[in-house]
Amino acid sequence: MKALTFKRYGKTPDIGFADVPRPTLKDDELLVQVHAASVNPIDNMIPTGLFKAVLKFQLPATLGSDLAGVVTEVGSRVTRFKPGDAIFANIFDLGTGALAEFAVVPESLAALKPANLDFVQAASIPMVGLTSWQALKERANLRAGQKVFIPAGAGGVGTFAIQLAKHLGAKVGTTTSTGNVELVRRLGADEVVDYKQQAFENVLHDYDAVLGTVRGDAIEKSIGILKSGGTIISLIGPLDAAFARARRLNFVLTFVFGLMSRKIMRLTKKRGLTYSFLFARPDGSQLTHVGKLLEAEHIRPVVDKVFPFEQANEALAYLAQGHAKGKVVVKML
Ligand SMILES: NC(=O)c1ccc[n+]([C@@H]2O[C@H](COP(=O)([O-])OP(=O)(O)OC[C@H]3O[C@@H](n4cnc5c(N)ncnc54)[C@H](OP(=O)(O)O)[C@@H]3O)[C@@H](O)[C@H]2O)c1
Repeated sequence: MKALTFKRYGKTPDIGFADVPRPTLKDDELLVQVHAASVNPIDNMIPTGLFKAVLKFQLPATLGSDLAGVVTEVGSRVTRFKPGDAIFANIFDLGTGALAEFAVVPESLAALKPANLDFVQAASIPMVGLTSWQALKERANLRAGQKVFIPAGAGGVGTFAIQLAKHLGAKVGTTTSTGNVELVRRLGADEVVDYKQQAFENVLHDYDAVLGTVRGDAIEKSIGILKSGGTIISLIGPLDAAFARARRLNFVLTFVFGLMSRKIMRLTKKRGLTYSFLFARPDGSQLTHVGKLLEAEHIRPVVDKVFPFEQANEALAYLAQGHAKGKVVVKML
């Protein structure tokens, strides 16, 4: 079958289409004909080797982790899905990929595709939906009336997280460039800072939580907008020792990640705040909850561009420019 693969780590990972064997099924897995797959910034980072110590791939490896498609075969122990079911899933972290004609999905990671979404829309959801759910609901325990700062509101995570936070009853602050101010307002953002015109740290205050989505010094600057007891949940680092322990990484990596986050830990502690790094995890049961929010139209998918499968590489290049308005999706069928 056709798949978009990378052959080695580094500056020249040799990304391109390859004819790879169709994956074989384990007892608890589904074979899915992929109709659409969305791309995420990590898909561009993995081939550079940045996550080599954390994410294990056998090279050449298929890229991509978000998919929507139709089940064509099920393993002998699968009980919740059958051939013909339309599903969506995130298979991040499994060493397998979604930018292919077929993908294997463990039953525990799959959810039925919301009936009101097409495959492109459904494929746009898993990574950003799970990340937002795990950050805002699970970790920040965001409640009605609280204030959350979600920078980069126009991006893949931002467009979903703003809507989820509003659904939870929170007030949302965000940053965006001038051209996307209307978009984030339509999604429900209450305080919108045009980062081309103003610095968010001079405008926002008394926030309960910050979702770290923008590289550079934005995380440290966001300390000043939080009230005592507030929390920063970062998607972009610095990685911390708790993350290393949760993934059972070795002592050296645990020590190194501890060092990397030492400064932000010290700064946040001094102000009575907490900091943690979040690495999203695939989870079919959470994705089912997310799917219900989409089905009830509490949250709507925001798709920027759709590329045909032959142009999957261009989809990754477009995303890498860093200015997607919502999600970038590759359509196979
Ligand atoms: N740890 C995890 O598990 C996890 C999970 C998901 C994502 N992430 C990370 O989270 C980050 C966001 O992911 P994503 O999928 O949302 O990326 P994305 O879709 O590529 O984000 C693009 C958006 O970023 C905005 N942006 C760029 N520079 C900005 C700035 N200085 N201030 C405010 N907005 C800015 C752009 O808006 P404008 O065009 O208006 O500038 C654009 O809409 C990425 O670094 C990704 O790797 C981590």
